[in-house]
Amino acid sequence: MKTYRHRTVLGKEELSGALDGLAERLIPLLEGPEVTAIPVLGGAMIFAADLVRRLPAGLVMDFIRIQTYGNSTSPEKAPKPDWTPNPENVEGKHCLLMDDILDTGRTLTEARRYLLEEMGAAKVTIAVLIDKPVRRAVPIQADAYAVQFMEDLFLVGYGLDYRGRYRNLPHLLALETGDDGLPVPLTVENNS
Ligand code: IMP
Ligand code: MG
Repeated sequence: MKTYRHRTVLGKEELSGALDGLAERLIPLLEGPEVTAIPVLGGAMIFAADLVRRLPAGLVMDFIRIQTYGNSTSPEKAPKPDWTPNPENVEGKHCLLMDDILDTGRTLTEARRYLLEEMGAAKVTIAVLIDKPVRRAVPIQADAYAVQFMEDLFLVGYGLDYRGRYRNLPHLLALETGDDGLPVPLTVENNS
């Protein structure tokens, strides 16, 4: 990545090992019939694709899209679903709700409420790639996470974006942020 000051926090191998550990902890929580895996689009896409391939066959996949972030590194508006799963995949089912990161908690709180209250899910289990508890604004915890960061890092790669970019990086990077909270662009001096 050539645009912003950054450092790699997890490489490909470390991500893969973290997902193995997560799958091991998650599998006992999914016992019983009728599991529907529901990634939150689009951040959870890459994480979910790798995680579901570590889970037992037979689960159904569907999707929810909730947009929280505008173009900054902190939440700007209340999250609201604008794409929802097929009702037959949710009503009376055990939903495995998956997201890239649990940060303030607003996105997953709304997604869980929507699945339980508006769509009649029997149960919601939450799995996230990253738990970042330092900025939690509402009381919610993941049932399982792959990694936890106690620092307030702004992360991109492996599904996480900044302004819609960098989701396709195979590793997880932290972007250095300035006093304005925005990523610091690389200058010619930084590059040399
Ligand atoms: P929350 O609602 O604040 O918990 O945030 C969840 C959503 O915010 C995630 O689905 C991400 O899309 C986005 N988000 C939170 N922290 C980061 C980050 O460090 N990098 C990129 N996206 C983030
Ligand atoms: Mg997201």
